[in-house]
Amino acid sequence: MEFFVDENDRVDGVDKVTGKAKYFAEYQLPGLTYGVLVTSTITKGKITAIDTKAAKNAPGVLEVLSHLNKPSVAGYEQAGGSPMKIFYTDQIFFNGQPIAIVVADTFERATFAASLVKVSYEKAAFNTNFEASIKDAAVKKLQGQPPYVRGIADAYKTAEVKVEQIYTMPVETHNPMELHGIIADWQANDKVTVYAKTQGVKSTQNTIANVFKIPAENIQVNSQFVGGGFGMALRTWPLEIAAIMASKQLKKPVKLVITRDQMFTMVGNRPAAYQKIGLGATKDGKITGITHTAFGQTATYENFTEGVVNMSKFMYDSENVNTNYYVIPLDMGVPIWMRGPGEATGAFALESAIDEMAHALDMDPLDFRAKNDPEKDPAQNRPFSSKYIKEAYKLGAAKIGWNNRKNKPGSTIEGSWNIGYGVSIGVFNAGRGRASVKGILKADGTLILQSATSDIGPGTGTGMTLIASKLMNIPVEKIVFELGDSSLPPAPSQGGSATLSTVGSAVNDVCVALKATIAELAANSNMDATSNFVDVLKKNNLPIIEKTIQSSQNNPEAKNYSMYSFSIHFVQVKVHQLTGVVKVSKIVSVGDAGKIVSPKTARSQMVGGAVGGIGMALTEEAILDNRYGRYVNNNFADYHVPVNADVPDIDVIFIDKPDPIVNPMGAKGMGEIALIGFAGAVANAVFNATGKRIRSLPITPDKVL
Ligand code: MOS
Repeated sequence: MEFFVDENDRVDGVDKVTGKAKYFAEYQLPGLTYGVLVTSTITKGKITAIDTKAAKNAPGVLEVLSHLNKPSVAGYEQAGGSPMKIFYTDQIFFNGQPIAIVVADTFERATFAASLVKVSYEKAAFNTNFEASIKDAAVKKLQGQPPYVRGIADAYKTAEVKVEQIYTMPVETHNPMELHGIIADWQANDKVTVYAKTQGVKSTQNTIANVFKIPAENIQVNSQFVGGGFGMALRTWPLEIAAIMASKQLKKPVKLVITRDQMFTMVGNRPAAYQKIGLGATKDGKITGITHTAFGQTATYENFTEGVVNMSKFMYDSENVNTNYYVIPLDMGVPIWMRGPGEATGAFALESAIDEMAHALDMDPLDFRAKNDPEKDPAQNRPFSSKYIKEAYKLGAAKIGWNNRKNKPGSTIEGSWNIGYGVSIGVFNAGRGRASVKGILKADGTLILQSATSDIGPGTGTGMTLIASKLMNIPVEKIVFELGDSSLPPAPSQGGSATLSTVGSAVNDVCVALKATIAELAANSNMDATSNFVDVLKKNNLPIIEKTIQSSQNNPEAKNYSMYSFSIHFVQVKVHQLTGVVKVSKIVSVGDAGKIVSPKTARSQMVGGAVGGIGMALTEEAILDNRYGRYVNNNFADYHVPVNADVPDIDVIFIDKPDPIVNPMGAKGMGEIALIGFAGAVANAVFNATGKRIRSLPITPDKVL
């Protein structure tokens, strides 16, 4: 079958929808064996005994590994327990902690045998209660970021008009459709091949090298397709090390795919948050003080912090700003960045408070934002590389019909539904790292590009192909971008909305280098400077020419600018008067993310962010039973992510103007800004619809009524 591919398609779209795209768990290795984890059923304490007799005697079982019989792992011999060394202690740090791996010849036999492992514990007192810990003086609170003060601290307290409120968020879990895991194949001579679910093949390679103390060149990491990550695959988790350990021990390939309920405990989560915002303004709407105090959760055995208070420092023009961010170690699995990470958490609080202040001043929330929009970054005192947020306000407002919004809450009623409009902005660092790309031009007219970058779904290959196609004037179907292979030229992990910027810059640079080589060859062989590369190669009897280029990290002038991507999310909600059900009925998201390289994948990022934002705003909440330290809704039936019926048509608008500083494409990232701010827009719309301010996510009907 022939598929038509044009500028507006994903290069891997056909593979993905026809099942040709191969995900880590689908690789069939000869002699493959299957691992299943045994996990702790207590929350804190220690293991006193593990009885593996029945499991070992069960049909098909090859091995049961735990701290009692783990093989020697060189990188685990050094002192310290952080990051967690799997099977290296009898200590239990959280409920659901992996404590043994059972390997058998089939998955079913391994699952059965794992159920036969009998573990005895000595329990200790534990604390998983985040909310209660905030006020408990006896609970440790660690500084998550140094305190920040600009001007006068807590200036809001003496302002003409002030807002002082607390905003809370529960634990959210990434839970991409694809379960986490790995296939590990430890071969002779300490060579290892893994098929991994990872956002960074080089990072996985380095972690394995460090843990097992073998050269990185011995480790081949394959991860061509990833079924969603949202941040949870930004590190190599202890469970992956367990599978590699088992493979090394057995000298057989071991596949370990965790279960959906294990996705809630051992592969990170968005931490719960408790935030207090103090906002002060003059009566005519000029912000005079912002105080943002945030608490997040971390683990007792590893520390995790993120940028919860970042945005409050620079998004609004206030002489006085102070922030504080603390983390509370709980007896739970360590969190990890989840889309938008801390900035999404912070934006919910700040943008809700901004809306509360606009209401207190009886101002339109867009006018209030515009009035306090800084000309330059007030935290760094330097210009933004590009910022079109006010233009974004206008485009989005026109599209959603903002003029239908009444400033007085509860003014618009249709039958038994209250209608409301809300807005919120998002912002995230527009980073650019260093990456290497190899370009191979072939005399058959094709271009192969190679880089050890990843694609967790946004469409890395599509963006890179479009950059190269435009620069080289080669049609997209003649370009292949290879990724997800640790033997390719190094690139950073896919995270922090930086892949297009980082790897795209290297693609740009390698294309420029290839063009220069072609021009030189053309000149040397007396050909026209505009000659087609195929003719130049043929004339020179060259089957290929290849170049590997490492791009620089940022332009030299980048240090003089603050580089951020911005977004503004507009939503219309309908709130049912009798049931309190909130439906998001219209969405307009505007991205100020520089030049749009790939319209389809860029739009998809914004759409995905809005869908995730609906979940964050209305449904997602991992509920812990603090008596047992265990999640009670650790499945997709009870942990609610939005389904199609929850999602209206989504309008995405891009400013689409190149940023002159960030990179040669002028393109800024948008993975995070697609989500950051969205939940605040929904909360603000619910207030506009009903007059009820919900400061605790998710906004479930019981809170609305
Ligand atoms: Mo993203 S939270 O950097 O995967």
